[in-house]
Order: sequence, then structure tokens, then C-alpha cells
Amino acid sequence: MSHIVGVLERELGAEAIVGPGHERLDDYGRDESPLPEFHPPECAVLVESTEQAAAVLRLCLEHKVPVTPRGAGSGMCGAALPIAGGVVLSTERMNRIKEIDPGDLVAVVEPGVVTGTLQEQVEAQGLFYPPDPASLEYCSIGGNASTNAGGPRAFKYGVTREYILGLEVALMGGEILRCGRRTSKGVTGYDLVAGFVGTEGTFGVITELVVKLLPNPPAAATVLGVFADVPTAGAAISALLREGLRPRVLELADRHSIDHVRPRSRYRFPANAGAIVLIEVDGEPDSMAMMMEKIGLRCDDLGALDVLAATEPADRRAVWEARRLISPALKAAYRIKVNEDVCVPRGKIVEMLARVDRVSAETGIATAVFGHAGDGNLHVNLLANDDPADPAVRKKMWAAAEQIFRHTIALGGTLSGEHGIGLTKRDYMHLEQTEQVLEWQRRWKLMWDPSNLLNPGKKIPPATPRCSE
Ligand code: MLT
Ligand code: ZN
Repeated sequence: MSHIVGVLERELGAEAIVGPGHERLDDYGRDESPLPEFHPPECAVLVESTEQAAAVLRLCLEHKVPVTPRGAGSGMCGAALPIAGGVVLSTERMNRIKEIDPGDLVAVVEPGVVTGTLQEQVEAQGLFYPPDPASLEYCSIGGNASTNAGGPRAFKYGVTREYILGLEVALMGGEILRCGRRTSKGVTGYDLVAGFVGTEGTFGVITELVVKLLPNPPAAATVLGVFADVPTAGAAISALLREGLRPRVLELADRHSIDHVRPRSRYRFPANAGAIVLIEVDGEPDSMAMMMEKIGLRCDDLGALDVLAATEPADRRAVWEARRLISPALKAAYRIKVNEDVCVPRGKIVEMLARVDRVSAETGIATAVFGHAGDGNLHVNLLANDDPADPAVRKKMWAAAEQIFRHTIALGGTLSGEHGIGLTKRDYMHLEQTEQVLEWQRRWKLMWDPSNLLNPGKKIPPATPRCSE
């Protein structure tokens, strides 16, 4: 047994440690990144309090052992993989909702709270926590803050960063920092909270969050428009937005996505369906019928093949089914599903989808694109049934991903709209950001973690050696 495992066991007790030989240890070496990566740690520590998290960070610095923070392991970019070995610090046991305050419209939560559980609990009190990543039934709020997660409702309500008012963070070496506030407004000092959100566990370990809530919108309506192709669907989206519609959700999926969902869906798609647009609005109950009609008419005007609309929760869930089935259907059909989350300006979505089709034709790799069209945030899925462990296959898939990234940047977009950078996209950062921008980020990281032992090798690529070096 390595030295650090014994040290941690003595400090925190054996029940906190998943150590060598434990059947669950390998789980801490994986996440949901594409082309499965496996990097087993020496041990995982399942902390139950801020003090325990701080103790792990103190001992890891003292013993010069790398430590990788982990939420629920649902990340898609390898941010929680312990690529340098050492210790995984898991917050899964810190799962208490400490307070929900309907007056102040805040909740105080531990990082291991499952996002969907928080949503249920606040909704039971007539409140609303909008960020809704697809994994909300098992991802954790600490992980959402660490990656600045998004989701369909981000179009109207914004991403996780906009809902984190205050943070408690355990820093490398064991210091505990409380920053931010409990009020909805506040401009005192630098915005350390915004600085920590989205850092993918490279600055510190989030141990408590003060989360902003909203009153729950009293009603919602969902409309699915089915179109012959992406350009027509794109025209419908543009027309609706130009007319001032502000839906909470505006999703798009292409023909390849529809073709995979078709056999599983209760809804019978028209044979020539080439794109779907899912629109959800919310507000006062008596405005729903009018909004549904407006959306339906506009879709009809632009040649929709079919339009479904629903206001009752069960019917709305049925309309959502077409969208929700896409990812599981692709997963079931392919051994390899590289799911990117690039973001392009909204006006470039149709062009981006055309470019994805070209990459598919040139590389012979199947694709399916769906995602959050309102934000220009597209899940470009590269799909294959080859052996994911074969290095040549991995190289081919990442080469195709690189083409997608290059097209994204050429259209004025960004590499990641919601899943983060972690390990899998780190080496493509230079396609988007200058060396100067990368270098300032390296300096920022070292300010919080001068020893570079906290989640090393993630998010920002190492400095490129200069010719003279
Ligand atoms: C989604 O929006 O569905 C997720 O971000 C990506 C996925 O689960 O494939
Ligand atoms: Zn998404």
C-alpha cells in the first residue's frame, strides 16, 4: 500500500477510503468521456465535510501527491480523471441540502447534491432552479459548478454560473475560503465566485454553494415542429426569434438523429422528416394557448411537415421524448460516440451542419447533430462501430473531431458550450485561444495551486517549448 493511502486512512478513517484492491477503485478512474479513458488512482477519498476535504488537500501537498476532485463522474471531457495517479477526492457523500429560503430565493447546498434532487425539492416549494444538464438525474451540483454546466433551458435562463452566488472552497494545502454573497446583487471586490465556476477542479474543491433560485413559472407549453431539412428548420427558428419570441428551450436535431430515434419513438415521424425543432415557452397559464398557436402557425407558414403541441406535463413529456431519446439511441447503435458540444453564432448553425455533413462524407464517419440551437450549442456526434481501444481508430476519430473544431472556429464559434475542456479537448485549445491568453490562464492556475498538484494537466495545455529551449 502506498504511503499516502496509509496517511489518509489514519487521518480520516478507513471508511472514507476506497483503496487498492477495493472493487470500486476502478470506477474512480473513469468518467463519461468519449473513447473511454481509464486512469486509475492510488485511492479515492469519500469526504463527508469541508474539514475532511481540507485535510486531504493539506496532506496531499505535504506528501507531494497529485489530487483530482470528482463529483458524480458524469463529466464528458475527462476533467475528473486522475491522469497523474495519486488521490481522487470525491464529494459524493457531501449531499445535504442545508437550506432552502423562499424569501431570499436561495438554497445552500453541499456539492454532492444531485441536480435533479435539488430541482424537485425547490419545486415542491414553488421555486425553480433552471440549469438542466441532460444528466440531471445523476450529476451533482458541485460538478455542474465546476464545469459551468448548461442544458436546454440555458437559452432563456442562462448557465450554472448565473445561479451561483457564493462558494466555500477548500484550497490546495488545506485553507478554506468563503467568497461571494447571498444577495442577488453584489459588486463588492473581485468576482472570485465567477472565477472558480468552470475551472474543472483545477483551482480548488467546492465544498458548499449558495445557489440563486427563481419563482417557478406557473405554466409551460412545448411544441415540436417537424421540417423537411435543416435550412427550413433554421428559417423557422430565425423567424420566431425575430418576432420577439423568447422561449426557454429552443432545440434542433438533424435527419441522422431523427433516423436513430424513429424506431424507438411513440411518435410516428413523417417519412421525409429531415429536422426537428423543439420549442418550450413558460409564463402565465392564460398566455400558453396564444403562444402555442403563434409558434404552430409560424411553423406551418414555413412548411412544417407536422406540429405537435402540449401544455399538460404528461403530454409535454411525450413531446420531449423525441429529443431525449437521441443520445441513448446513438449510444445503443454505436460502439464509439464522440459527442462534442461546440458553439457557433446562431446565424451560422445551418452552415455548421452543412460542414459537419461534409466532414462525414470526407472521413466516412457517421454523424448526428442535435442540441441547443437557441445558443448555437451543437452536439456534433461522431459515430463508429470500430474497436474503441484501437489506436488507429482513436486517431481517426480525434482527427475528425479536430476538423469539427476548426470549422467551428472558422465560423466564429467556440470549442465547448457546456461540457468543458478537461483532458479530451485540452490539446485543441490553441485552435481558439492565443498563446498569450493560455499563458495568463496558466499563471492564474498557479496562483491557486503553485505546486500544480491539484488536477494537473487539465483544461489548459502545457506551455509549448520555444525553439531555443
Ligand atoms: C445533451 O444536451 O443531451 C447533453 O449535453 C449531451 C448528451 O447527453 O449527449
Ligand atoms: Zn447539451
